[in-house]
Amino acid sequence: MALVEPFANLNALVAALTEVVVNESISSTMLRGQFTLAVPGGTTPQPLFRHLASPEQCLRIHWPKVHVFFTDERCVPPTDQASNYRLAREMLLDHVPIPPGQVHRIHGEDEPKAAAAAYEKELRGVIGPLKGREFGELDLVLLGLGSDGHVASLFAGKKALHDLERWVIAEHVDEARGTRITMSPWLLNNARSTIVMVWGQDKARALMAVLEGPEVPNALPAQRIAYGARYVRWMIDDAAGKLLSGPRR
Ligand code: 6PG
Repeated sequence: MALVEPFANLNALVAALTEVVVNESISSTMLRGQFTLAVPGGTTPQPLFRHLASPEQCLRIHWPKVHVFFTDERCVPPTDQASNYRLAREMLLDHVPIPPGQVHRIHGEDEPKAAAAAYEKELRGVIGPLKGREFGELDLVLLGLGSDGHVASLFAGKKALHDLERWVIAEHVDEARGTRITMSPWLLNNARSTIVMVWGQDKARALMAVLEGPEVPNALPAQRIAYGARYVRWMIDDAAGKLLSGPRR
């Protein structure tokens, strides 16, 4: 099921998204004793990270019960400018009382395939069947949309898009991007709830192609989520949604 929720501007989007994260954290903690959240890198989540880190919002989440995972990572050390972990740590995680053992980073500095396998093992330990979850499910996955239609590090034409077995995959993307480690479509789509945050006019064309264009997930990886996720909401601002043909519910 997919829902598109437009907001007049970025501030309104971030405020609404904060309510979603707070409410999901409360219900997951009450029902399952923990809240598992996967976050992306890039510019998209930064305003949300900043807002959640503010003293007023920080108090609304029971951080000792939160486990933070990363949807994808670059093959760099955790201190690197390009590290998604570094970004989330500096903007959010250093400012909230989350136990350090519950921040689950992808070890981008290790050999990529080994790092992917180790991350899958770590995920299974927290959200796997032994934890009472039938298939392995994150409570909430947040994604950004690339202007070429990718999400996480699932890129057009790559094998990771079609892998139905692994939870985490390492794959060489191209010269510019190098090798990436990413959660698989299977794991992302099996989340209890998925939100794709899309803001800014440079995303308008990709958003229109993903939501209203022909179904070509091999070329537009975000369609693997749009058509495959258990429950996905597209929270967008007016600039990103300006090419959509109309309200979609
Ligand atoms: C990353 C991502 C990636 C990102 C999109 C959007 O680490 O880069 O997880 O999928 O969400 O590329 O990137 P921007 O938010 O920078 O536009």
